[in-house]
Amino acid sequence: MSRIFSGIQPSGELHIGNYLGAVKNYAELQRSYESFFCIVDYHAITIPYEPEDLRARTREMMVSLLAAGLDPSTSTIFVQSMVPQHTELAWIFNSVTPLGELERQTQYKDKASRMESVPAGILNYPILQAADILLYRADLVPVGEDQVQHLELSREIARRWNARFGAEFFPEPQAKLTPARRIMGLDGNAKMSKSMGNTVGLLEPPDSVWEKLRPAVTDPARVRRTDPGTPEVCNIYHLHRAFSPPDVVANVETQCRTAGWGCIECKKVLFEHMNKELAPIRARSVEIRARPEIVDQVIGDGAATARRVASETMREVKERMGLV
Ligand code: AMP
Ligand code: TRP
Repeated sequence: MSRIFSGIQPSGELHIGNYLGAVKNYAELQRSYESFFCIVDYHAITIPYEPEDLRARTREMMVSLLAAGLDPSTSTIFVQSMVPQHTELAWIFNSVTPLGELERQTQYKDKASRMESVPAGILNYPILQAADILLYRADLVPVGEDQVQHLELSREIARRWNARFGAEFFPEPQAKLTPARRIMGLDGNAKMSKSMGNTVGLLEPPDSVWEKLRPAVTDPARVRRTDPGTPEVCNIYHLHRAFSPPDVVANVETQCRTAGWGCIECKKVLFEHMNKELAPIRARSVEIRARPEIVDQVIGDGAATARRVASETMREVKERMGLV
């Protein structure tokens, strides 16, 4: 059976971008694959943060993941810093990763260009990501489009380590994208992201979802109500494709191209279908929050299972590398 691994930063609550781009896919794939899902708190400390806040966001992310349908009875859901082998393998991969490849990463260039002093952890971030995946010898990685370059580097690291120490030991992990590989921000920005403040929270109450949806950017060609639009350039259309049934999506296309509906009408229909999908998730989050011991249990059990698999991989890695 193939193994899947994915990591998600403890940004607190999920938003519909990382839900549609990744987490919804995790929930489907966990039925067919042996699955490991990791809240990557060691990745999160590469940018400035408050310790108490990080702890709360990590827990909150666990609640969101469980509410979104991750099933701890079939998947291993855990927190990265509770499994020390992640950083151990990352150090080992430091010795086979070309510096030039790290410097070429778009996310590194983006982040570094906005910082006065760049911590080495920002540069080495994808090495830890490769260690996350390869520690479980996973071959499939469900992620959004922004992670494709990091996964190419993970394959390169696997190849280099294999070439030096053990042909075929690590598989070359492939990205598994969804149709919603990149959800734009409601402000029309290229990517929905917490750091850009253009998100809709997965657990946000309906009123506040509508407050955000109503003024959201649509096709700029639709200045007046009577101006026809092009659905493909509109983020609202892409959200319909993720949330609405196929007949509704087809109707949205027609109504947009013929200016049959105004954008507000179109958003109302979207809101209704979003609610259908999100209401049960919100309800589950309330149940989970009422029973914090369940979250503790998942966190403890997940770490124990992950450590078992991870220590087995490290035993073989060390043996092949001449580490005592
Ligand atoms: P992050 O919250 O940045 O750790 O991302 C978690 C997962 O969600 C990763 O697989 C990302 O590629 C994916 N993701 C984050 N934002 C978006 C977005 N706006 N559209 C699609 N996927 C996303
Ligand atoms: N870098 C990923 C992100 O920002 C998070 C991540 C860390 C990850 N380790 C991973 C994703 C391993 C997939 C596999 O979204």
